[in-house]
Amino acid sequence: MVGKPRLFMTRQVFDEVIKRLESKYDVEVWDKYQPPPYEVLLKKAKESDALYTLLTDKIDCKLISEAPRLRIVAQMAVGYDNIDVECATKHGVYVTNTPGVLTDAVAELTWALILAVAKRIVEADVFVRWGEWKRLQTGWHPMMMLGFELKGKTLGILGMGRIGKRVAEIGKAFGMRIIYHSRTRKPDVEKELGAEYKSLEDLLKESDVLSIHVPLTKETRHLIGERELRMMKPTAILINTARGPVVDTEALVKALREGWIAGAGLDVFEEEPLDPNHPLTAFKNVVLAPHIGSATKETRMRMAMIAAENLLAFADGKIPPNLVNRDVVKVRPPGFGQSS
Ligand code: NAP
Ligand code: GLV
Repeated sequence: MVGKPRLFMTRQVFDEVIKRLESKYDVEVWDKYQPPPYEVLLKKAKESDALYTLLTDKIDCKLISEAPRLRIVAQMAVGYDNIDVECATKHGVYVTNTPGVLTDAVAELTWALILAVAKRIVEADVFVRWGEWKRLQTGWHPMMMLGFELKGKTLGILGMGRIGKRVAEIGKAFGMRIIYHSRTRKPDVEKELGAEYKSLEDLLKESDVLSIHVPLTKETRHLIGERELRMMKPTAILINTARGPVVDTEALVKALREGWIAGAGLDVFEEEPLDPNHPLTAFKNVVLAPHIGSATKETRMRMAMIAAENLLAFADGKIPPNLVNRDVVKVRPPGFGQSS
């Protein structure tokens, strides 16, 4: 290759990260606050050797097939359901992500939602802020704003991976019983946290707090639908900080409207950004966040840097540390030197 490989970054990140990348790449950054439209992405992909992407960028098979120079897609996120990984592998395109570094941030945000719903924090803030407390002249009332306690209750984890485990550890500190359902059993976690493995059905039936931590895949899309929500306790709350489409939103709205469950805490949605007129915004017992699970300065810096490290390793002809599609190595060696 003559000159440095061309890298298109779909959003502005920290300056020091871009500087690091400029040591090996000819970098172009999309500097708008909104994601590049698909047509722009398509054009940029055609001209680029590498892409630095976010979860809002649709990297589908059309884009991959029409980008003959493209060798690597480095995603700044742990989830990569926006990328057609199977197609990337077929075309010898490496896909990387940023696992691990955001586990604590997302687990903490999950707990912020659990506490906000259980203790009715957002509702209480509005009650004070908008003068309802003053207007009612109640002061302290024995029946005012009653939430529920977590100690002794059952925390159900759906997807006992990195984030699910951290959420369970914090639940243990709250004195909760931990149950979980995952694709594979986790004897280590069962031993360490006294967590009990359950079928999905029993997880739904027994959880007081059900927290979702599975990735979005063909198998997990609408994993929680009407049938599943009807199995939950009417006193239980549902927390989703994984991906919106894991839960059937229409069914969730019905469940909240008809009282099949007691509330929800949501950081992710089937359509992001959520329309402010969406039915979900009408429930007092639902706390909403704009997909900010990993949004701490420390974590976002680590994510941005790790995505860059994957690109730098690849440019050096090394297998990137966070390679998602391991089989791609059989199609094409890492680096920009060789063709398949
Ligand atoms: P992870 O370590 O891979 O954990 C995911 C767990 O789900 C694994 O234990 C996995 O399989 C299990 N699983 C996968 N498919 C399943 C299925 N069909 N049924 C039951 N369990 C299944 O990933 P992580 O780092 O914890 O991240 C989890 C997800 O959180 C990401 O994929 C992303 O979508 C989401 N996320 C959201 C935010 C946010 O900002 N809100 C931030 C980061 C991540 P095994 O049981 O076989 O291990
Ligand atoms: C954020 O949602 C991520 O997957 O990192």
